[in-house]
Amino acid sequence: MTAYSVVIYLLAYHSGRIPILVLILILFLCLWTKRLHYNSKKVMASNSKTSTDVPSIAAEAVLAKSDFDSTNATVVKGYDFNNGIDHHALLSSYATSGFSATNFGLAVQEIIRMINKKLEVPVEDITDFNSHTNRRLSNCTIFLGLTSNLVSCGVRETIRYLVEHNMVDCLVVTAGGVEEDFIKCLGNTYMGAFDLPGKDLRKRGVNRIGNMLVPNDNYCKFEDWVMPILDQMLEEQNSQGMKWTPSKVIHRLGKEINDKSSIYYWCYHNNIPVFSPALTDGSLGDMLYFHSYKSSGLVIDIVEDIRKMNNQAVTAKHSGMIILGGGLVKHHVSNANLMRNGADFSVNVNTGQEFDGSDSGARPDEAVSWGKIKMDATPVKLYADASLAFPLIVAESFARYQQQFDQRLEKEKSLPVKTD
Ligand SMILES: NC(=O)c1ccc[n+]([C@@H]2O[C@H](COP(=O)([O-])OP(=O)(O)OC[C@H]3O[C@@H](n4cnc5c(N)ncnc54)[C@H](O)[C@@H]3O)[C@@H](O)[C@H]2O)c1
Ligand SMILES: *[C@@H]1O[C@H](CO)[C@@H](O)[C@H](O)[C@H]1NC(C)=O
Ligand SMILES: *[C@@H]1O[C@H](CO)[C@@H](O)[C@H](O)[C@H]1NC(C)=O
Repeated sequence: MTAYSVVIYLLAYHSGRIPILVLILILFLCLWTKRLHYNSKKVMASNSKTSTDVPSIAAEAVLAKSDFDSTNATVVKGYDFNNGIDHHALLSSYATSGFSATNFGLAVQEIIRMINKKLEVPVEDITDFNSHTNRRLSNCTIFLGLTSNLVSCGVRETIRYLVEHNMVDCLVVTAGGVEEDFIKCLGNTYMGAFDLPGKDLRKRGVNRIGNMLVPNDNYCKFEDWVMPILDQMLEEQNSQGMKWTPSKVIHRLGKEINDKSSIYYWCYHNNIPVFSPALTDGSLGDMLYFHSYKSSGLVIDIVEDIRKMNNQAVTAKHSGMIILGGGLVKHHVSNANLMRNGADFSVNVNTGQEFDGSDSGARPDEAVSWGKIKMDATPVKLYADASLAFPLIVAESFARYQQQFDQRLEKEKSLPVKTD
C-alpha cells in the first residue's frame, strides 16, 4: 500500500528527475511485498506459524475444520422454474428449501402420515364404532380445529371440501366459525381493505373482518333464518325432553340449511361431530340472547359434549390433530387428546409466538410436556397465516387422496350403520 503511494508520489512530483528503470524497480518491489503478505496469510490458514498481521486465534476460529458427515444429509435446494410452472413440483421443493418452506413440507408429510394411517384398514373391515358419535373407527381419527376468521375467509371452501369427502372425523370451531358458514348461505361476504375507516363503515352498517366486509343485512337475514329454528328447538325440549348441546345445535342447523356450499350441511350428512363449547360468543349468542326475551327456557348443555369429544379421542386407535390458529380451538383439541395420553400426529398452522406464555403461541413441545402430544410423535408447527398456507397444504395432502376417500365413503354407505 505505502509502496504504491511512493510510486504515485514519485510519478507525480519527480517523474522528470527519476529514470524509468528506478521506477520499474520500485514497482517490482511493491508487487513482491504484496505476494509475501498473501503467502503469510496462507501459512496462517494451514495453522503452522503465527503471522505479524492476523492473530492465529482469529484464523483458527474462522477456518476451524468441520466434523460433519454429509452422507445422509439433505441438500438445500429450491425450485428451478426452467422446469416449467409445475405447482406440485414447486410445493414439493419447499421441504428442502429451508425456513418456513421446510416446515410447510414437514406439515404436509405429517398430514400424509395421518392419512396413510387412516386408510390402512379397508372400511369394510372396520367393525368398531365410536359409541358417542356412531362413526366407524378408522385407524386414525383426525381432529380439525380452526378459528372463526377462517370460515369468514375463503378457507371455508377448503374446510367444506374436507368434510364433504369425509376426510376428517371431528371439527372444533368457535361461534363465529359456525354462524359465518350459515350467513354465507344467506348473503355474501365482500372484499374490502384493512384500512377502511371504522367510523365510515359503522355509519353505513358494514362490518369489517380484516380486509373483508360483511353488510349488517346479512345478520338480519341470519336472524330471520335462525329464530324459527330456535323456537322449534325450545318446543322439542319442552315437549320431547330434548337435551340440546352445542354439537346437537350445529347438527340441526346443518340439516336445516340444506345447502351444499355449507360446511355443516356436510358434517350433518357425513355424521362428523362439530364441537363449539363457547357457542354463545358470536352472532349466535346475540340470537340466543334475543330469543330468550321472546320465549325463555332454552338450555344448551356443554357437559354432554365434553364427554363426546373426549371419548372420541380416548377410543381412537390413533389420533391426529390439525389445528389452524390458536385460542379455544387449539386447546380444546389438544386437551381431548390428553385423555388418550397424547395425539400420535400433530400439525399447527399458527402465527402465535411463545414469549408471552400464551397457549396460542406455545410450540408443540409444550403440549408434549402436558401429555397432549405423544413423546415419540413428530409434531410440526408452521408459522404462517392459514388463509395462505392451509389450502396449499390440502392441495399437497388430502386432495391427492380424494379418490380413496370417495371410494371409502361410497362403500361405507352400503354397510350397516350402528343405530343404538
Ligand atoms: N369472524 C370472526 O373472526 C368472528 C366472528 C364472530 C365471533 N368471533 C368470536 O371471536 C372469538 C375469538 O376468535 P377465535 O377464538 O376464533 O380466534 P382469534 O381470532 O382470537 O385467533 C386466536 C389466535 O389464532 C391465531 N390465528 C388467528 N388467525 C390466524 C390465521 N389466519 N393464521 C394463523 N393463525 C391465526 C392467532 O395466534 C390468534 O391470536 C371467538 O369466541 C369467536 O366466536 C369471531
Ligand atoms: C446413513 O444411512 C445409512 C442407511 O440408513 C446408515 O447405515 C448409515 O449409518 C448412515 N450414515 C450416517 C453417517 O449417518
Ligand atoms: C391399526 O391400529 C392398530 C391399533 O393401534 C394396530 O394394532 C394395527 O397394526 C394398525 N394397522 C392395521 C392394518 O390394523
